[in-house]
Amino acid sequence: MALSAFLFFVLLCAPFSSCAVDRSPEIEALTSFKLNLHDPLGALNGWDSSTPAAPCDWRGVACTNNRVTELRLPRLQLSGRISDHLSNLRMLRKLSLRSNSFNGTIPATLAQCTLLRAVFLQYNSLSGNLPANIGNLSNLEILNVAANRLSGEIANDLPRNLKYLDLSSNGFSGPIPTSISNLSQLQLINFSFNKFSREVPATFGELQNLQYLWLDFNLLEGTLPSAIANCSSLVHLSAQGNALGGVIPPAIGALPKLQVVSLAQNNLSGVVPASMFCNVSGYPPSIRVVQLGFNAFPNVAGPETGSCSSVLQVLDLQQNQIRGAFPLWLTHASTLTRLDVSGNSISGKIPAQIGGLWRLEELKMANNSFGGIVPVEIKQCNSLSLLDLEGNRFSGEIPEFLGDIRGFKEFNSCCKSLFWFNPSKFPQSSWA
Ligand SMILES: *[C@@H]1O[C@H](CO)[C@@H](O)[C@H](O)[C@H]1NC(C)=O
Ligand SMILES: *[C@@H]1O[C@H](CO)[C@@H](O)[C@H](O)[C@H]1NC(C)=O
Ligand SMILES: *[C@@H]1O[C@H](CO)[C@@H](O)[C@H](O)[C@H]1NC(C)=O
Ligand SMILES: *[C@@H]1O[C@H](CO)[C@@H](O)[C@H](O)[C@H]1NC(C)=O
Ligand SMILES: *[C@@H]1O[C@H](CO)[C@@H](O)[C@H](O)[C@H]1NC(C)=O
Ligand SMILES: *[C@@H]1O[C@H](CO)[C@@H](O)[C@H](O)[C@H]1NC(C)=O
Ligand SMILES: *[C@@H]1O[C@H](CO)[C@@H](O)[C@H](O)[C@H]1NC(C)=O
Ligand SMILES: *[C@@H]1O[C@H](CO)[C@@H](O)[C@H](O)[C@H]1NC(C)=O
Repeated sequence: MALSAFLFFVLLCAPFSSCAVDRSPEIEALTSFKLNLHDPLGALNGWDSSTPAAPCDWRGVACTNNRVTELRLPRLQLSGRISDHLSNLRMLRKLSLRSNSFNGTIPATLAQCTLLRAVFLQYNSLSGNLPANIGNLSNLEILNVAANRLSGEIANDLPRNLKYLDLSSNGFSGPIPTSISNLSQLQLINFSFNKFSREVPATFGELQNLQYLWLDFNLLEGTLPSAIANCSSLVHLSAQGNALGGVIPPAIGALPKLQVVSLAQNNLSGVVPASMFCNVSGYPPSIRVVQLGFNAFPNVAGPETGSCSSVLQVLDLQQNQIRGAFPLWLTHASTLTRLDVSGNSISGKIPAQIGGLWRLEELKMANNSFGGIVPVEIKQCNSLSLLDLEGNRFSGEIPEFLGDIRGFKEFNSCCKSLFWFNPSKFPQSSWA
């Protein structure tokens, strides 16, 4: 009897949403979730077990076959703890409580909702660790807990089918587990603004689907492993504001899809490889943004052929230890819109070929050892809205064409050798 009733349910009833399903456990789970909360906007006032299709007709609740599969309550000023009882929503696939003021810990019982595919808890005040058994969520593809007050070390067993893992802006610490390489579906890792320490694990190199790797502002040290050059899908690599030393592995520049490399504020040294700028690898060039300021680079390598094809738009090499003449081959990178070489020791003249960078909007060459006269060809950069040449050793008169420009400021009128200007935008007429 019991068996036939069960079969009746499975065979005939389950596919149809009109069938009677006992919804009371889910009503209870949500009611106790609500009881824990402070709800200043009254967003959950309509959560009443007497509604016709409770809880499926409640705000933020979505059901499939009369079972709660989604709970979405973003940006409602809700505060308080997330109830343990949410785990009674056993069919839950999507949970979004982002951008509220939830505090307390992430309930460990959530790991019982094994069908969960997406969890959005970012922008709350959650504290404590990630639940230890979170690895049980084998269907979980998206875990976003950014901008909370979570802490502790990351366990070795994270959900193995994760595609999107955002732990940024928390207080996580300890090493990045080498076992991260087991999460072979990962497309995005954001660990920025935490206290992760030790080395960047070389096992990252096994993540063939990884497109976005954000490691900015942690306490990472050691060198950037060349195995990262194995992440063939990588589009964005950033590890600004750490304590990384050593060299940039040139193979990274050969990644066929890489667009952004942001490694400013580390202790990187050695020659910046030409592969950062252009297609020395044989692939069509892909890197658009290179930010390497505030490191210890003594030099940038030019391509062996003297020029190369580039799609570079932003190149920031400020506050390094680059010496010698301005790298002439860079003047072929005509897609550049922002170039910053301030705070190095570059000497000699600014080459006339600088005029080839005709798309430049910002050119910063302050605090170097440039000398001679400023080439008139700079006029060809007719999109310039910021030119900073302060702190150099130019000689001769300030070129007349610069003096014509509205907004020009002369800082050292005694010698006319130090100057700087920053017009909001050059009036086109003065460049005619
Ligand atoms: C959560 O916030 C409430 C007030 O909004 C406060 O009384 C409680 O102590 C907080 N709990 C934690 C763990 O921070
Ligand atoms: C969940 O994880 C815990 C500890 O990691 C384990 O003991 C338990 O068997 C797991 N439960 C399921 C349903 O996989
Ligand atoms: C990574 O996290 C930082 C800090 O929370 C944030 O600014 C950045 O936009 C995030 N990146 C992505 C791709 O989500
Ligand atoms: C990766 O997963 C396999 C099998 O699931 C396990 O044996 C191995 O220890 C894991 N690797 C790491 C580094 O955790
Ligand atoms: C590089 O990628 C291949 C798969 O394409 C993988 O087998 C290998 O282990 C990776 N090497 C490193 C150092 O990560
Ligand atoms: C930076 O790297 C150099 C070696 O290149 C090392 O001598 C120095 O101690 C490092 N500085 C810091 C702050 O790590
Ligand atoms: C880079 O691109 C240019 C222009 O497309 C091409 O002539 C040159 O052979 C390429 N270099 C390499 C190393 O692929
Ligand atoms: C140049 O050096 C001066 C004096 O040390 C400093 O105030 C200024 O911020 C520096 N400018 C740049 C762009 O590095």
